[in-house]
Amino acid sequence: MSETIQSVKGMNDVLPDEAAAWEFFEETVRAWLRRYGYRQIRMPILERTDLFVRSIGEVTDIVEKEMFTFTDRLNGDDLTLRPEGTASCARAAIQHSLLYAGPQRLWYSGPMFRHERPQKGRYRQFHQFGVEALGLTGPDIDAELIIMGARLWRDLGLANIELEVNTLGDAEARARYRARLIHYLETHQDGLDEDARRRMHTNPLRVLDSKNPQMQALIEAAPRMLDDLDEPSLKHFEDVQRLLRNAGVEYRINTRLVRGLDYYNRTVFEWVTTELGAQGTVCAGGRYDGLVAQIGGKPAPAAGFAMGVERLIALLPGGSREVPPLAPDVYVVWSGEAAEPHAWRVAEQLRDAGMDVTMHAGGGSFKSQMKRADGSGAPFAVIIGDDEAAAGEVTLKPMRDQREQVRVRAEDVPALVKG
Ligand code: HAM
Repeated sequence: MSETIQSVKGMNDVLPDEAAAWEFFEETVRAWLRRYGYRQIRMPILERTDLFVRSIGEVTDIVEKEMFTFTDRLNGDDLTLRPEGTASCARAAIQHSLLYAGPQRLWYSGPMFRHERPQKGRYRQFHQFGVEALGLTGPDIDAELIIMGARLWRDLGLANIELEVNTLGDAEARARYRARLIHYLETHQDGLDEDARRRMHTNPLRVLDSKNPQMQALIEAAPRMLDDLDEPSLKHFEDVQRLLRNAGVEYRINTRLVRGLDYYNRTVFEWVTTELGAQGTVCAGGRYDGLVAQIGGKPAPAAGFAMGVERLIALLPGGSREVPPLAPDVYVVWSGEAAEPHAWRVAEQLRDAGMDVTMHAGGGSFKSQMKRADGSGAPFAVIIGDDEAAAGEVTLKPMRDQREQVRVRAEDVPALVKG
């Protein structure tokens, strides 16, 4: 026997027992997106590498070491499996001039790819739902994006998800802060780990994100962005907070929240839970007013967020396995030469009437077929032998209670099953 082939490390199958939770999640999210007037956009999974280098930033974990990048052997193009959706969404909006028609409220979903060390809640292929509002500049849209999140957690029945917010100010404020932070880090070099020393001059804000316990005191005492903020950004941040308070959304200001992608300015936020161990961020985003221009579009403000589907499904009440699996309305059991064509016709007739019908496949005795009918979870079996076929009828057998089976015409089945 030849060796079995396994999936690529960190890339998971979603098995049928788990798929019910995914469907529940996706349906809930789609309904919620409609309620806020967001429209779907679908982008390719593969993009030119340059798109991500220019948008996410050269000195970020994602671009430095996590991208699945390869050369197309047929034409030499430098391509990357998307590590996130914001860059592709902005690229698509520019390419198709979507913003000429006015601001756009968009969403997308699908797999993203990052070559990280896999662990619970962290995978190399994972899934996001992303929401992007393009062409809107005010604090109202930042607040809307956050308030939406709060509703989704309620819709999904999730508690214990907390909101952290921060502001990164405008480009000049960040440059001022950056200089002050570099100075501080330089004077405290002895306390920095290797990673921090390497990043100190290229991406000093990311040093604040370090999880190294030995550096926490040093990070705690570092200068704060808030003190360098420009007036308009400060006002913007206060307005966002006012709208959150007005909506009754609780938040905590975390001045060390800087995010792992370089395109952000002003508002940034993360929804975090303590229930998933180290991978506690279930949803994150912020404003990125410079990105559209940075990748060649006419300057346009923008803000958005993305949520990690695997992490949120792991949080579903009682664990994902408690979402009931989808069962058919009826399972069709049949045996006999005359029964066969009748059973096929009846199955299609019931589907015409809007029923979910699983047709037994693979033959076998009535007894073994009834076992399969039971295992399918269907509340009724439709049984067809040559007798039923001759009479143009079916036997309808309740599977989940003690009621007697009845002989009826196929067209009466829907009313009896739904009744
Ligand atoms: P991000 O923080 O890199 O932001 O990812 C968003 C969410 O995706 C995370 O909070 C997490 O739930 C999930 N996630 C990220 N990496 C993994 C992984 N390796 N395994 C499982 N889940 C993961 C972005 O991607 C931005 N594009 C968000 C955004 C949209 N900002 C503005 N618009």
